[in-house]
Amino acid sequence: RFKAVIFDLDGVITDTARYHYLAWKRLAETQGVHFDEAFNEHLKGIDRMGSLELILASSQRSYSQEEKLALADEKNEHYKELIVTMSPGDLLPGAVRALDTCRTAGLKIGLASVSRNAFTVLDRLGIRGKFDYVVDAATIAKGKPDPEIFLKAARELDVPPAECLGVEDAVAGVAAIKSAGMWALGIGDPQTLEQADAVIPGLAQFDLASY
Ligand code: G6P
Ligand code: MG
Repeated sequence: RFKAVIFDLDGVITDTARYHYLAWKRLAETQGVHFDEAFNEHLKGIDRMGSLELILASSQRSYSQEEKLALADEKNEHYKELIVTMSPGDLLPGAVRALDTCRTAGLKIGLASVSRNAFTVLDRLGIRGKFDYVVDAATIAKGKPDPEIFLKAARELDVPPAECLGVEDAVAGVAAIKSAGMWALGIGDPQTLEQADAVIPGLAQFDLASY
C-alpha cells in the first residue's frame, strides 16, 4: 500500500544520535548548563540552532547572535571529530536489509534528516547510492516537527504523502511525519513515541508487510 519510504538518519540508520548527545553535552557544560539523556530526548530531530536555543534557555546569561553562531560552530567541530572514524561498520543492525527490502518491493526511498552533516555520514556509511532522493537540510526553512522536510522528500520522489511511510526515532520527527499526512513508524520506546502508528526497537525488526 505504500509507494515510498522516507527515513530519518540519526538514530535510525546509524547511532549518530549518540555523537550529537556527546557533543551537545560538552558544549552545554562549558556554559554551566546541566545536560542529560532526558534533556537530549527533546533535542532529537531538532536542527542545530534550534537545539542550541533550547540549551541556552537554561543558562543564566543571554547571548548575542554572534556568540550563538560561535557556540553552534564549536559543537559542530566536536561532532565532526566524533564522526570522522565512522565506517560501514557503524550501520545499525537491519538498516541495509530494510533499505534493500524497500528496494526489492519497488518502493522509492528517501532520506529526510535536518542534519547538515547527512551527506558526509551517508558517504562514510557507504549507502548514499541506496537513496532515490536525499533532502539537503540547507534548503529547509522549518525544522521538525514542521512537516516541510518530509513533504519535500515526497514531492521530489513524486509520491503523495498518504502513500509514504516515514521512519523516525525522534518525538519531533514522528510529529513531522504525522502532520505531513504520512504513516509513522517509530524507532525506540512506544511510550516516548506515542504519536507513531507503530513502534519497533530498531530496523532489525523492520517488517514492511505488517505496516
Ligand atoms: C538531526 C539530529 C539532531 C541534530 C540535527 C542537526 O536531526 O537528530 O540531534 O541536532 O540533526 O544536525 P547538524 O549535523 O546539522 O548539526
Ligand atoms: Mg533521528
